[in-house]
Amino acid sequence: MTTPQQAEQLKRQAAEAAVGYVRHGQIVGLGTGSTARHVVLALGEKVRAGLAIKGVPTSTETAELAKSQGIALLNHDEAWQIDVAIDGADQVDPQLNLIKGGGGALLREKIVAAAARQFIVVVDASKRVPVLGGTFPLPIEVAVFGWRSTERQIQAVSDAFGYGGTILLREKGGQPFKTEAGHYILDLHVARIDDPAGFEARLNAIPGVVETGLFVGRTDILIAGTQQGIEVRQAERR
Ligand code: 5RP
Repeated sequence: MTTPQQAEQLKRQAAEAAVGYVRHGQIVGLGTGSTARHVVLALGEKVRAGLAIKGVPTSTETAELAKSQGIALLNHDEAWQIDVAIDGADQVDPQLNLIKGGGGALLREKIVAAAARQFIVVVDASKRVPVLGGTFPLPIEVAVFGWRSTERQIQAVSDAFGYGGTILLREKGGQPFKTEAGHYILDLHVARIDDPAGFEARLNAIPGVVETGLFVGRTDILIAGTQQGIEVRQAERR
């Protein structure tokens, strides 16, 4: 059993290993969450030691941290070509497909991952699962307008895939949680997602669904911090 302190240590080790892939002069996608935080801190140290990079942050929280570390950032409206993006995940399956969005930054995270030549995922061992779902709900970002109708259609798609489950509107402080883009998040609790690619495609076809937390076939390298040390896995294909 891993204690929270040990998990934090494993995240930090994975993050530091990932930063070893970043080269001088590169544009780097900066993820969001507690593991990505370790990435930004480790990059900050390297920047202060002379590494020149520019960052593309996936949230205001990450942008603020990166700035405090002396990492230069690109604007949202620049046509960035990201060399490498490094981010955490809520779940990773054996094919390196992910559930992301626990921190609500999934839209920017997916845009940045899609724009990156290389997408590196950093996790502690607890995030690895045999099949996506079960212990973590699938976050689905939806437009506020008509969200109850969108919710019904998401449920119908989940039922059609045989996943069933329940949907909860994410809340914060007793109010609906709003993403940085001003959308709601519906957390879909299902026991397992056997066909993440098909499910992602079908969910994304629902008007009102902005993006899902399924990252299918996007991971190039997985770096996992385990009690036995760092494990690195390259995706077989992308
Ligand atoms: C935020 C994310 C995070 O990467 C994910 O929630 C993992 O977070 P942590 O590293 O804190 O466990 O997708 O939207």
